[in-house]
Amino acid sequence: MLLDLKLSPRAQSASIWALYALGLVPAVWTFYLGATNQLGADPVKIFERSLGLWGLRFLILTLAVTPLRDLEIFNGLRFRRALGLLAFYYVALHFTVYAVLDQALNLNAIIADVIKRPFITFGMAGLLLLIPLAVTSNNASIRRLGSGWTTLHQLIYLIATLGALHYSMAVKVLTAEQYLYIWLVVVLLAYRIVRPKVMQAKKARRKAASHVSSR
Ligand code: HEM
Repeated sequence: MLLDLKLSPRAQSASIWALYALGLVPAVWTFYLGATNQLGADPVKIFERSLGLWGLRFLILTLAVTPLRDLEIFNGLRFRRALGLLAFYYVALHFTVYAVLDQALNLNAIIADVIKRPFITFGMAGLLLLIPLAVTSNNASIRRLGSGWTTLHQLIYLIATLGALHYSMAVKVLTAEQYLYIWLVVVLLAYRIVRPKVMQAKKARRKAASHVSSR
């Protein structure tokens, strides 16, 4: 059974704005906790990590939209752009905290870090690749780029891989939580490989059902 909320155009746009507002709550809340001394001994680190983790969570949610729709669980297509943009906003904020509060905007130190530490290299590559996707996420770019838009936005698979690698290398010991996020990324990427078969089976099932009902 596909859960597909049938909303009026106005309610649809309100639900998307609500998602943006809700999606930014963790950033505002963690910032508030930091500003009021409630983030423990190293508030900058906790804030930086929280933003990175939300970036990864929104990347995972963006990747989950297609399989959830294909498998007739939930049609969240109208939310996909907002989820992708929220992932970008969080990763950009994560980088901003790193550059401003961790590295005191010392460009040489940032470049040296990107070169020397592979996990930073992967994270930086993920952020840089997210930029063209965020810039072309509007309707005008979809129309202008045609089929090139879909090809360009397939970069999300590479970005998720880089994000998961960055995450697994950023932490010293992998806990159940880290395994869960990495496993989710692997499953969602692996789904893209089997997707043509899933869609073929779905088409065949539909054809068989329409055959039976037309008898
Ligand atoms: C797709 C892009 C990115 C994603 C999804 C991402 C996500 C994450 C996550 C989930 C963590 C670990 C949080 C935890 O310990 O629970 C992390 C850590 C970290 N990230 Fe990123 N990140 C990205 C890009 C970047 C970039 C561009 C930089 C800076 C150039 C960066 C710098 C860091 C640093 C320094 C840490 C370690 C913080 C610490 O524990 O000391 N990340 N990131």
